[in-house]
Amino acid sequence: MSIPCDMLVFGGTGDLALHKLLPALYYLHRDGRLHTDQRIIALARSPHSRAAFQALAERHCRAQVARANFSDTLWASFAERLDYLAMDASQSADYGRLARHLGNDDKRVRVYYLATAPDLFADIATYLSVAGLAGPKARIVLEKPIGHSLESAREINATLGAVFDESRVFRIDHYLGKETVQNLMALRFANALFEPVWRAAHIDHVQISVCETLGVENRGAYYDNAGAMRDMLQNHLLQLLCLVAMEAPVRFDAESVRNEKVKILEALKPITGLDVRDKTVRGQYTNGQIGGQEVPAYYFEKNVDNDSDTETFVAVQAEIENWRWAGVPFYLRTGKRLAKKTSEILIQFKPVPHQLFGDGEANQLLIRLQPEERISLQLMAKNPGKGMHLKPVELDLNLANAFSTQRRWAAYERLLLDVIEGDSTLFMRRDEVDAAWQWVDPILQGWHQHYQRPRPYPAGSDGPEQAEALLERHRRHWHADRDTN
Ligand code: BG6
Repeated sequence: MSIPCDMLVFGGTGDLALHKLLPALYYLHRDGRLHTDQRIIALARSPHSRAAFQALAERHCRAQVARANFSDTLWASFAERLDYLAMDASQSADYGRLARHLGNDDKRVRVYYLATAPDLFADIATYLSVAGLAGPKARIVLEKPIGHSLESAREINATLGAVFDESRVFRIDHYLGKETVQNLMALRFANALFEPVWRAAHIDHVQISVCETLGVENRGAYYDNAGAMRDMLQNHLLQLLCLVAMEAPVRFDAESVRNEKVKILEALKPITGLDVRDKTVRGQYTNGQIGGQEVPAYYFEKNVDNDSDTETFVAVQAEIENWRWAGVPFYLRTGKRLAKKTSEILIQFKPVPHQLFGDGEANQLLIRLQPEERISLQLMAKNPGKGMHLKPVELDLNLANAFSTQRRWAAYERLLLDVIEGDSTLFMRRDEVDAAWQWVDPILQGWHQHYQRPRPYPAGSDGPEQAEALLERHRRHWHADRDTN
């Protein structure tokens, strides 16, 4: 990069900064991707000295970065870039100090990374502007969820929009930084093979599952107000749905890609009122076992209300009302404390029109994001021996093996570099966030109006049985690996 940049991280001693952002910046430094004069300034309330913050950052980076990629010499040069300023982001008076700390250099790009709760976003933008820190070279990065509802998201976006024009606002969804997610676009738009069958005439349904074994960790206070719908489905899962369903953009640039995604969000069929009972399932984990360890029920987690009715699991049957997808259900599900960590997209094709051999199964395309990055196409083949007995076999592309000499970038590395370089293709535009909330808000309201406690499911299971029923009534099932289930 040719222009020096200051990256300022609000919430600089939080989990996100220490576990994800700093290790990602360390890798970018190691690979020579940062300008020699790039500074990284953490901002938080704790009264750390610069040296104490560097020591804290080192502890976390050592734990996060693979040993082979960490060296004391590299760390020493990276630490030179690190600085710390104790300030309270909710106090406008502290921004004068920040301005003095940064000095007057209007040649530098300034990136403000808001790794804080969304209720601080609007204030931070306003105070930056008042302190003269939001000039034309300043960019702002927001973590999801943006707001808590359509209305609060609109308020945040309006306040931000008054300070930063849209090209300088980077709404991050780290799923878009994942290699396999970008590969989904390569798969669809760089191969002629799939396009003719990528439509309602040939696809029976689509499943998008993001299953985690983790609980809420240290984030109980945030999570108990958010729940799985706001934390995961409103953003990560809807972004995946957009990439599966969108039309080919005219160009691979920010506006063209985002124009296509927003059309999908706008075409989502509203789920309102009593529909929520038919088309959505909320769950909450009770105590159980994960990897042989006893884990507590959600309502016993730290900073979670004992009587909490926040969902830690959600499944939704979505539909896209356009020519390509009319009548094809998109089943989305995500949950914490499930049996296995997997993120995957399943494209279930329709069966052949006439079963010549009796026991055939329909083709499936599985795009696995985690734990391994894999794309596999299930085809029917003949079992060796007499007779025409069929067996599903997989054409399997393991992306890590296919590119074994290249290090796999973490999502945040790619996205932080994009922000520094000013490329917003993989970030959410204001109207996208709006459209996502427009679809999610009525579901949240429906849950409120037709109240049902979340369905309990034991930690270590596949989620509440009602999530199975959501598919079973259409004679469908959630995908499970053949070898391990
Ligand atoms: C975050 C959510 O955005 O994504 C977390 O806030 C969740 O609750 C995480 O655990 C999952 O990300 P990944 O990359 O581990 O699938």
